[in-house]
Amino acid sequence: MSGEVRIAPSILAADFARLGEEVKAVTEAGADWIHLDVMDGHFVPNLTFGPDMVRALRPLSGLTFDTHLMIAPADPFLEAFAEAGSDVITVHPEAGPHLHRSLQAIRALGKKAGVSLNPATPLSAIEHVLEDIDLILVMSVNPGFGGQSFIPGALQKLRALRERIDGLGLSIDLEVDGGINFETAPRAIAAGADVLVAGTATFKGGPTAYAENIRRLRGP
Ligand code: DX5
Ligand code: ZN
Repeated sequence: MSGEVRIAPSILAADFARLGEEVKAVTEAGADWIHLDVMDGHFVPNLTFGPDMVRALRPLSGLTFDTHLMIAPADPFLEAFAEAGSDVITVHPEAGPHLHRSLQAIRALGKKAGVSLNPATPLSAIEHVLEDIDLILVMSVNPGFGGQSFIPGALQKLRALRERIDGLGLSIDLEVDGGINFETAPRAIAAGADVLVAGTATFKGGPTAYAENIRRLRGP
């Protein structure tokens, strides 16, 4: 059974010229987490921001800062993202040679450790580290850009993971990221996701629309 659904706006879709105000606005509009997409132009074909941005935004919201690292290697930057104020730090298994070591390092920094699975990454990539994971992020698009279409194969992956997590009685958050909108959100929730990342769908319509967008993503 998934717990209560939490909505994590991805600031990738926010107005970068007013990023601080945008984070405040979604916080006031009822968001649960803030999703921060970090890209290096190497692991993914796009560039965003680093730990200094996380640090700058940190005082503006009391919500969980959910930092999604799409960088390789990730290990040299874990401490910087932890110190900047991330609460969850998520890495991709392909970003380094020793996933278990990365997860241990994140927990040793006092943060929640996440693993993100690309559309083609099999569940077996995390089979032997489930005890070391606090969050699994299922990519429902190929990482790198906001505004892409949901890949339906992610639903099967979510269902399999929900079954596994509940079967083992583990307390692991199951997050879905990419192409989440009013149509795909209920499908992802039904498949077992309990954290929905939503960039485009949250920020559409500007600040006056955020509360209603978040409410609709959460479902009835
Ligand atoms: C893609 C990022 C996502 C992205 C989602 O690499 O990980 O978090 O911002 O954007 P939307 O919700 O617009 O698909
Ligand atoms: Zn993301």
